[in-house]
Amino acid sequence: MPDPTNSSPDPLKTDLRRVDINPDFWYPLAWSKDLKRGKTIGCRFGRHPIALVRPAEGSVFALEDRCAHRQVPLSLGKVSGEAVQCCYHGWAYGRSGRCIDVPYLGKGKLPNGVRTYPCREAGGMIFVFPGDAAKADSIPLPSLAQVDNPAFKTRHFSPVVKCHYTFMHENLMDMNHQFLHRRQMGQIKARFLGQDAGEGFIEARYSFARSGNQQPLAERLIFGKHHDDPGREQPVEEIVSIRTTYPYQSLKIHDKDGDLIMELFSVYVPNSADGASTQTFGLLSVLRPKTPFLIDVIWPALGIFTNRIFEEDREIMELEQAAWRDLGGDHNVEVFPIVRKLRDLLKVEGIVREQTADPVVVWEHGS
Ligand code: FES
Ligand SMILES: [Fe+2]
Repeated sequence: MPDPTNSSPDPLKTDLRRVDINPDFWYPLAWSKDLKRGKTIGCRFGRHPIALVRPAEGSVFALEDRCAHRQVPLSLGKVSGEAVQCCYHGWAYGRSGRCIDVPYLGKGKLPNGVRTYPCREAGGMIFVFPGDAAKADSIPLPSLAQVDNPAFKTRHFSPVVKCHYTFMHENLMDMNHQFLHRRQMGQIKARFLGQDAGEGFIEARYSFARSGNQQPLAERLIFGKHHDDPGREQPVEEIVSIRTTYPYQSLKIHDKDGDLIMELFSVYVPNSADGASTQTFGLLSVLRPKTPFLIDVIWPALGIFTNRIFEEDREIMELEQAAWRDLGGDHNVEVFPIVRKLRDLLKVEGIVREQTADPVVVWEHGS
């Protein structure tokens, strides 16, 4: 336990990669479609293994994914009615986390159960509140792009990247890295238009200029062909706004008339105890073109295009993580003011990781 007489460290002076994500928010841990009735799946939020259980009837619930007996994952167990039974000796746990049956013991002597987490479903995702459960009802779910808007088609994705979640926030907010994507997007240069900041959020707005007429096909199909004047730098008229509303991130593209044409929601969920692996849950909503079914025709091409770009980002962020590990800390030389502000926001809103030699958590179970 930390010594309460010690003054807490200044978060702004902390190595950003040693700042844990704040658990007092709703985080998606799985897609609803992946958890069938009568089944359970194992997920992680940082150092917390969590079992999601969809009973035969009723809503999904979330339990600590360790049997109180010998800490075997409950997600390997069997769902029977409203409870999940550990795969080893068959201890059964209900949605309250209480142990409700030990098959070889009398009902009067049941041991304590396991921790539970508030759990909700929205936008095709299963959200869990990993922090202080008493706060869960007062914290809203995030806005989930245009997932419920029939005028948009929404793509779901959830890649794992071997890096700290903060690299992901920096990567999306900092559009100056389009140089990395020059093979996919052509020569495109970001122009920073302005920013907005407030309690728990920061936003950057950009437009782009293309120096050549290499507009990619997927982009042309969605936004329409831009007028090209070969040899001249072309203004791209859409405005891209990227906002970190802690701990979530969104990217919106508005056309020259101010209409929303694309919206991305993403959240980066640490899924390892050491903080060096992150699973993104993302929703990419694209306005359906006027021609019916055109969106379905171009959808696979859009998927390939966005995957290629993401693969380039993934490789870079994993290299950043490897450099942090090799150098023993964050040697970032940040020159772009909006990214500096973003880094401060992530530090202030996050939880400074305690420096312990042994990252193993001691679990307190009844016996
Ligand atoms: S380890 Fe779960 S019932 Fe024994
Ligand atoms: Fe990128």
